[in-house]
Amino acid sequence: MSPRARRLALPLLALAIGVIALGTAIYVTLLPRGGSSVSIGGPFALTAGDGRTVSDRDLRGAPYLVFFGFTHCPDVCPTKLFQLSEVLRAMGDGGQKVRALFITVDPERDTPAIMKSYVSSFDERIVGLTGDREAIDKVVRDFRAFAKKVPTKDGDYTMEHTGLVYLMGKDGQFIGSFNLERPPEEAAKDLLRRV
Ligand code: NI
Repeated sequence: MSPRARRLALPLLALAIGVIALGTAIYVTLLPRGGSSVSIGGPFALTAGDGRTVSDRDLRGAPYLVFFGFTHCPDVCPTKLFQLSEVLRAMGDGGQKVRALFITVDPERDTPAIMKSYVSSFDERIVGLTGDREAIDKVVRDFRAFAKKVPTKDGDYTMEHTGLVYLMGKDGQFIGSFNLERPPEEAAKDLLRRV
């Protein structure tokens, strides 16, 4: 080894070790915990129609469903909310504690009062939630959901958003996506098993 190569060897070795250490750290950080898939959900505190704060902690003790949408939605949201109402109704008395959260992705237009009047035409166990933009963005991120403002021709806008219904267990942990495309009685049985 030439003297010049020897002078370079040590810094290069240090650099190589540094790169390997950093790579390992990143790999370990991104590795799903417990070998399962990435975590979905997380702590949140949002505003209900009556102005009261609803947090994930308040929902512990019973399974709950989470659905993202907005009150100006022309078809998907009203359809899903109707389907959710049917499932809640089909659960009967056994499902009194089960809640379905309708979280707006359009908090600029969906004030607590608007959310309240919108969900009032559906089952009373459906809770409309809103919050400031920051809180909404965080909950959308935590649920690995998607929401995007799309301008319309008339200078207005609509929202593209995730249509997934999330099933959360009574411990607040994500169980899986909840299938609404089946008879309400069947979906209700599925929920009642988690109560
Ligand atoms: Ni919608």
